[in-house]
Amino acid sequence: MKYLLEIWRQKNRDTAGSYRTYMYETDSASVTVAAALSELNEKNELTDTDGNITERIAWECSCLQKKCGACAMLIDGRPCLACDTRLSESKKGRLRIEPLRKFPIIADLMVDRQIIFDDLMKMQLWAESDIFADDRNNSVMYEASRCLQCGCCLEVCPNFAAGGGFYGMSAMVPASRLIAAMKGRSANDLKKRYGRAVTDGCGKSLACRNICPAGIDIEGLMARSNAAVLWRLFSGLRDKNQ
Ligand code: SF4
Ligand code: SF4
Ligand code: FES
Repeated sequence: MKYLLEIWRQKNRDTAGSYRTYMYETDSASVTVAAALSELNEKNELTDTDGNITERIAWECSCLQKKCGACAMLIDGRPCLACDTRLSESKKGRLRIEPLRKFPIIADLMVDRQIIFDDLMKMQLWAESDIFADDRNNSVMYEASRCLQCGCCLEVCPNFAAGGGFYGMSAMVPASRLIAAMKGRSANDLKKRYGRAVTDGCGKSLACRNICPAGIDIEGLMARSNAAVLWRLFSGLRDKNQ
């Protein structure tokens, strides 16, 4: 099967970019975009369909097993992981591959996602008192722990802009893990403290609902995290009044 891969090429953030098309041929129906990019880069000469010899394609990967989030990019306009997207998912035999657009570009398909980690640092996502794990909040904590910090949810979020005051679902998910783990008023205080950064700033449009490559149930997580806070708060008040 022959595929035409239309790939965004850009030397660095100070130069203009453009799409270059490359032919990729394989007998396998299970080849991923990540595998195709690696193979293209292994060629002695990387030639586009116009016959131009081009530089190796800059892109990022680490685990190649949907575990690290490093290979997040736009494939046919949808944010996803290159190591989790098969070429055969394209029915036309043609795929457009470009970098996530909400983050500063480094080169080609590589972007600087440091803002995600800076935002998490600003939120001080650590427990300052005892945490609680039981049947009511275990599932929230487990679900939230699967976040890859890939940034795919931020790419589609109308309220997220890098450097803005709203940190998006990649912050809300780990925050919900901590909120669900805290006791009574601590959980509520934490929720208030995060305020605009994750809770108030979210417009609940749920554009991010079906995007997460880790399959995190965003809507369910938000609902269960709220429920855990209320349950803790009310059970804490009840204990105090007894
Ligand atoms: S629900 Fe909407 S506003 Fe909230 S994080 Fe998801 S995409 Fe952004
Ligand atoms: S919530 Fe999902 S899409 Fe968003 S950063 Fe975490 S793993 Fe990626
Ligand atoms: S390389 Fe780690 S998620 Fe794709």
